[in-house]
Amino acid sequence: MLEVSDLSLSVSIQGESVEAVSGVSLKLKAGSVLGLVGESGCGKSMTAQAMLRLGEHQGVTKAGGDILIDRQSLFSMDDETLRHIRGGRIAMIFQEPMTALNPVFSVGSQLIEVIRLHLDMDKRQARARAIGLLQDVGMQDAEQLLAQYPDALSGGMRQRVLIAMAMAADPDYIIADEPTTALDVSVQKRIIALLLNLQKKRNLGLLLVTHDFGLVAEMCDQVAVMYAGQIVEAGPVKEIFDHPAHPYTRALMGCRPEVSEPGVLMPVIGGQVPPPGRWPAGCHFAPRCALADNACQAPVAAKAWRSGEHIARCLHVPEVGQ
Ligand SMILES: Nc1ncnc2c1ncn2[C@@H]1O[C@H](COP(=O)(O)OP(=O)(O)O)[C@@H](O)[C@H]1O
Ligand SMILES: [Mg+2]
Repeated sequence: MLEVSDLSLSVSIQGESVEAVSGVSLKLKAGSVLGLVGESGCGKSMTAQAMLRLGEHQGVTKAGGDILIDRQSLFSMDDETLRHIRGGRIAMIFQEPMTALNPVFSVGSQLIEVIRLHLDMDKRQARARAIGLLQDVGMQDAEQLLAQYPDALSGGMRQRVLIAMAMAADPDYIIADEPTTALDVSVQKRIIALLLNLQKKRNLGLLLVTHDFGLVAEMCDQVAVMYAGQIVEAGPVKEIFDHPAHPYTRALMGCRPEVSEPGVLMPVIGGQVPPPGRWPAGCHFAPRCALADNACQAPVAAKAWRSGEHIARCLHVPEVGQ
């Protein structure tokens, strides 16, 4: 199991260190898909990157809590062990494949390098594995593709190459940060189908970061809803779809394009996610929430609702749930 335990991350804004992720806990089990959902700016990417301990290179000034892989702390791991874990046990797929692919090296040389970094293979073996991986992600001319450069590929093909790279060392967990956001809708569907297929075949634990609640319904077993640095609701997908508790979750669900009638404007949540340093003292969502009252001006703890598995951070949960 890959576990995020009470994770807090600070960044520096105008010379001041402020919290951007606050007390986040998540559990990602082998063979299951966990969705991390929320609007842009809620801290999803920072949380995802912390799961590979990438934050320290991305401007994180302070980290609290822990990330545990099979109860081993990622935060107290030496660099050598961490290098094996990254890619070897936990791999990441980014939103924009060009940031993860190097334009000056061919697809083959990048793929073979990743394979040889983690697996004890000579060049020929690694090349054969690279071809196999490209076929696994649905590339037909895998052999010719090895010689091509990322620039020559379409967005969808680049994302397939990136998925092949993520699979290179047979990881146990994949962290996919908005893996299809940059792609056309038709391509998105195929990439998602591919990811789910690989996840099932290899019994992967998949964390899917997205702002799209529709995608969560399609793909995930569990979901965690994030707002302004905190998890505001979490639980099994079906439970949350049938009985969303938090007003933010309900608002996000209402914003799914497929819920709106054709020709009718899509509902939006008024206002904006407050940036780090500008969070309200009480419930972070209160300034945008129709149910907010005086009690919401004090910090709100998460509590179980309906079942121990379903938690929500809202004082008005019983009212909302009815
Ligand atoms: N290195 C950084 N320095 C300053 N602010 C940052 C840094 N990284 C992220 N942030 C801020 O932290 C918040 C959360 O960012 P992020 O995790 O990227 O959100 P999401 O992925 O949910 O859109 C945003 O307001 C973002 O501007
Ligand atoms: Mg992001």
